[in-house]
Amino acid sequence: MVKLPDDEKSHSDHEVMDQWEDFVKERYPKPHSEEAFNPTDPNKQKEAFRDYEQNARPSVREFYRQNHTHQTYDFVREKKKQYLSFSQKEMGIWEAAEFLNTLVDDSDPDTNLSQLQHLLQTSEAIRRDDRPRWMILTGFIHDLGKVLCLYGEPQWAVVGDTFPVGCAFSDRIVFPEFFAANPDMAQAELQTPLGVYKEGCGLDAVHLSWGHDEYVYQIAKPYLPAEGLYMLRYHSFYPWHREGQYDYLCNQTDRSMLKWVLDFNQYDLYTKSHEAPDPVALKPFYEDLIAEFFPATLKW
Ligand SMILES: [Fe+2]
Ligand SMILES: [Fe+2]
Repeated sequence: MVKLPDDEKSHSDHEVMDQWEDFVKERYPKPHSEEAFNPTDPNKQKEAFRDYEQNARPSVREFYRQNHTHQTYDFVREKKKQYLSFSQKEMGIWEAAEFLNTLVDDSDPDTNLSQLQHLLQTSEAIRRDDRPRWMILTGFIHDLGKVLCLYGEPQWAVVGDTFPVGCAFSDRIVFPEFFAANPDMAQAELQTPLGVYKEGCGLDAVHLSWGHDEYVYQIAKPYLPAEGLYMLRYHSFYPWHREGQYDYLCNQTDRSMLKWVLDFNQYDLYTKSHEAPDPVALKPFYEDLIAEFFPATLKW
């Protein structure tokens, strides 16, 4: 059998997806925590980020290379056409969580939590802090868009730090050098700071790289308050919420909602522990919570 180097092996289901999440967590340590390197000098911070990138596992680098190469303005609009007609499946929220949970990582069954457990860890941390019920529910559903993987989408089209397409790529996006291979780089009109957008047009008018965030946002749109919807839609938009980029595309609503996205981010990133929540024991609470906001079945 021919032995492939690590980054050419085909990775099982969501192996790289989990590795991406670990990478993001390392790159963005909890603000003011002990591990956090929070230099005030932006050049020092850039250096630190370059180190994270250099030390990233080959599979994570390869994941970003593909993501930055293939997420183009046309690709994103194509995926929206394909998935935002919601003709894939009909299922309720709990059912969707169980469906997502069939995404199995056989690489490291001892240390990785299942998808359902990550959702429950996030939502239970929010619940422990006595936050509003809609926010607990937002935590529970925030990654349900990853069912895109189960429709056969490659991981680079499901997860990853999201960024606007149709305008210049910020150099504060992770691995900016991989954009060199993105076909949009050859289109001058897509490479000005504004590109196809107007200054202050608002993020709602901006196409972000396609993935699980936009998909679950669109599904939840009629049912959750605006703050929750911002959390869903922009939870992977690190260039905006952690790097302060793209403010020139934002309107006042976006700016006032940013704090909610950051508020949510701490629960998503920093509650991962090896203590596994028990889905059977928690199901009745979540069934009630879901029924409070969502119909019994939804089109996906
Ligand atoms: Fe996510
Ligand atoms: Fe998450």
